[in-house]
Amino acid sequence: MQTTNMDKLQGLYERQLQCLCDMMEFRDLETGGHLRRISDIVNLLLGSAKRHCAWAARISSAQIVKITRASMLHDIGKISMPDSILHKPEKLTPEERAIMQTHCEKGAKLLEQLRYIEVLQDEEMYRFCREICLYHHERWNGEGYSFGLIRDSIPFWAHITALADVYDALMSKRVYRNALPYQDTINMINAGDCGSFCPDLLTCLKETAPRLKRLYD
Ligand SMILES: [Fe+2]
Repeated sequence: MQTTNMDKLQGLYERQLQCLCDMMEFRDLETGGHLRRISDIVNLLLGSAKRHCAWAARISSAQIVKITRASMLHDIGKISMPDSILHKPEKLTPEERAIMQTHCEKGAKLLEQLRYIEVLQDEEMYRFCREICLYHHERWNGEGYSFGLIRDSIPFWAHITALADVYDALMSKRVYRNALPYQDTINMINAGDCGSFCPDLLTCLKETAPRLKRLYD
């Protein structure tokens, strides 16, 4: 089959994204397959959200591809964090936590500087990447950061990435703890132990559970 210009462009986008992901993983050796898993989780949740969440009903297949890709860059701002904070095995002090929380805005600024690369020249892709960076620590009840956005003022692509990020963090081993069993992860998320999420999105998490679980086999 002949390779079209569109295929070539998609290949270029993939390679550029992979390059950015490699840079992130070089800085944070703990992450391993975290970025790829985040995009897999986001993709599964988006498929389910189209059926269960009014706010996702009109999303197109092309947009699902873009959001799935964009989710991998959610923590790109962590590149700018000092090693003493990024790799600190103990709990962060309030001052260190405040510095760490700037990774959202720093990520958005970095993307602005990277706009010359082809994958970010697509206006919609840039918007998804930027908003996911900025808002992936917001929570449904307004108690997240950096802006304390509430409910559907949070772009839903950022909110889905937030849930994927929490789910993967709990299911993965950390320096200070083992990976949690699947049921404990679900119980903690549903109990709001990692902040509040859109109830419709939690329905999607339940629906996609068997497929999400397989990502960790
Ligand atoms: Fe983050």
